[in-house]
Amino acid sequence: MLSQIPVNLAKVSKKDLDKEILRLGMIAELDAVNLYEQLASMTSNSKIKAILLDIAREEKTHVGEFQAMLLKLDKEQEKELAEGKKEVDEILG
Ligand SMILES: [Fe+2]
Repeated sequence: MLSQIPVNLAKVSKKDLDKEILRLGMIAELDAVNLYEQLASMTSNSKIKAILLDIAREEKTHVGEFQAMLLKLDKEQEKELAEGKKEVDEILG
């Protein structure tokens, strides 16, 4: 993704704007996790690898921050997130 916003937020309805901003934040943070983990796997320098993996872990915290705020605003998402976890637990037994 690398900072390219895939939608024109000016066209998003006012009631959905904050939820879409938070989702875009989550997308950007998840993308950053993948990027830093990919870069970590490419380097043979153990110090750079450690720094990249530490930053990737911090990005996961940022995902959690956006998600926590989103779940306060989007109760349907909160319910469906729990439903998704339940379905996986059922499949895995
Ligand atoms: Fe971040």
